[in-house]
Amino acid sequence: MNLTLRIWRQQSATAPGRFVSYRINDVTPEMSFLEMLDMLNEDLINRQEPPVAFEHDCREGICGSCGFLVNGVAHGGQRGTTVCQLAMRFFNDGDTLTLEPWRARAFPVIRDLIVNRSAFDRIIQAGGFITAPTGSAPDANAVLVPKEDADTAFDAAACIGCGACVAACPNASAMLFTSAKVTHLNSLPQGQPQRDQRTLSMVAEMRNEVFGSCTNHGECEAVCPKQIPIEFIGKLNRDLIRALWHRRREPLKIPSVVQLPCAEDAHEHFHDDIRPSQEVARRQLQEDVPAPLPVGSPEHAGTSR
Ligand code: SF4
Ligand code: FES
Repeated sequence: MNLTLRIWRQQSATAPGRFVSYRINDVTPEMSFLEMLDMLNEDLINRQEPPVAFEHDCREGICGSCGFLVNGVAHGGQRGTTVCQLAMRFFNDGDTLTLEPWRARAFPVIRDLIVNRSAFDRIIQAGGFITAPTGSAPDANAVLVPKEDADTAFDAAACIGCGACVAACPNASAMLFTSAKVTHLNSLPQGQPQRDQRTLSMVAEMRNEVFGSCTNHGECEAVCPKQIPIEFIGKLNRDLIRALWHRRREPLKIPSVVQLPCAEDAHEHFHDDIRPSQEVARRQLQEDVPAPLPVGSPEHAGTSR
């Protein structure tokens, strides 16, 4: 099949970008999407033109490196599929495909289809760990884990950190990613000693990284290649309330998270219809993190173009 590709080309983070159209012929249905781009790049190199930069590693849906928008949909729109697993049989001869990088202020474009997702790394650093005594390995059944909890932790651990949830969300929210990382460890007995600190630290870091707020659009769940359920965001909110409740009795310092002073007028940025639980969380968190920006503002979901 023969296709037209409209691809976002941007030399660097500071250079202006634009769409460039390419014709590509003899694409077979068996090819993966990235193999099709490999073919395009071989052609560009032969013509002494710069190849299209895109990120990849495993090419089997495990590492989370790949990811861009195909016709405006993260990972190309096949349910539970990363773009590296996307097969060309889902497209038709003569199609025009528009490829562009994730669009979110927290994910600045590095080059072409590659964005900087280190904001996710900093959220992980804030709380994605447990403390455990060192020494010889404990017996496998030394700590018993209820089956239901093990299944929940396993489902949450499936998140590969690709960033599609942020790209799909109108608010550029990282709630689905953060909720998966928090739920993974908070569901297990080994994660209990730092449960409150983990929740507060990761939520605070998420807000420091200028991700937007969740307003229950559900776009994140729809595009997630690992089908992380949106109910994990509910679990995160419940854990946040729990942590804040405990904190009222025992002041908690959050290490490794930049604690910026709270804006005096923080409440002015919140919508009137904010839920009671979010209101409690807001009051507590605004002591530690900067006031959130208005939902839907350019600062939240602003493009990097
Ligand atoms: S929650 Fe899903 S879409 Fe978001 S980073 Fe994890 S795997 Fe990717
Ligand atoms: S290249 Fe690893 S998930 Fe796509």
